[in-house]
Amino acid sequence: MEQRYVGKAAVVTGAASGIGRAVAQRLGAEGAKVACLDVNAESAMETAAGIGDNAIGLACDVSDWATVESTIASITEQFGQIDVLCNVAGIGGFAESHLIDPGVYARMIAINLTGTFLMCRAVLPQMVERGHGVIVNTASTAGIMGQPWSAGYCSSKAGVVGLTKALATEYDTPIRINAVSPGGVVTNMYAAFMPPEGVDWNRMRKMSRDNVETAQPEELAGLFAYLGSDEARYITGSIMVMDGGITA
Ligand SMILES: NC(=O)c1ccc[n+]([C@@H]2O[C@H](COP(=O)([O-])OP(=O)(O)OC[C@H]3O[C@@H](n4cnc5c(N)ncnc54)[C@H](O)[C@@H]3O)[C@@H](O)[C@H]2O)c1
Repeated sequence: MEQRYVGKAAVVTGAASGIGRAVAQRLGAEGAKVACLDVNAESAMETAAGIGDNAIGLACDVSDWATVESTIASITEQFGQIDVLCNVAGIGGFAESHLIDPGVYARMIAINLTGTFLMCRAVLPQMVERGHGVIVNTASTAGIMGQPWSAGYCSSKAGVVGLTKALATEYDTPIRINAVSPGGVVTNMYAAFMPPEGVDWNRMRKMSRDNVETAQPEELAGLFAYLGSDEARYITGSIMVMDGGITA
């Protein structure tokens, strides 16, 4: 394993499970001090314990500004600084748009999009002050192309694409902001995707799990680790697609 993160401190959200857990593990294995954040505190701590003494697990709801702000302050105190932020936390789920509970829609935006912004908002001041730092967000094929029964999810992920590009134009390298755009990744979220009852599954077209090859979380973690490292020095404002060709 390369050691690109020795002397660096990283924060990973959604670190209790799936892609976030794999990202935390990968950065830890490459020498980073890692703060593993998740609403599921117990599993975030499990992730941290598996990484070792260089990792801590903390409860954090990314949609709650007060919690985000105080969590980032306490990690900064403990680690000295935050060099890399990986925003992986997110929720999914299908619902027909003419029937969806507006509260469910709002929650998806609050976690997937506003939560990503709030985490950026919390770490950017110290990155601006130091003049360097890296953020890697999580978009989706659903943020680049349409997907049925996913108005909230598509909107939130298209928002992450816009947020990533906006920030990259506002801050100069070596502050870098990019996003990874996964296709189908074998995680709890992916396993839980159930179409609404009675709909025509063929509407999923190329995004259907029947048509598309999937990736393992560790494959995505490799891309996050690359983007967060100095090897990606010249990459900012990019939406790095790893989707088996779904959006090709
Ligand atoms: N799995 C896929 O096929 C796929 C495809 C494209 C994009 N994504 C995106 O990848 C990211 C990770 O998803 P995953 O597949 O690993 O799912 P997952 O369900 O395994 O992990 C998501 C994690 O986010 C956490 N989380 C949810 N709400 C939170 C909140 N408010 N604050 C903090 N943590 C919260 C969950 O507790 C969970 O641990 C998500 O942003 C998802 O939208 C996944």
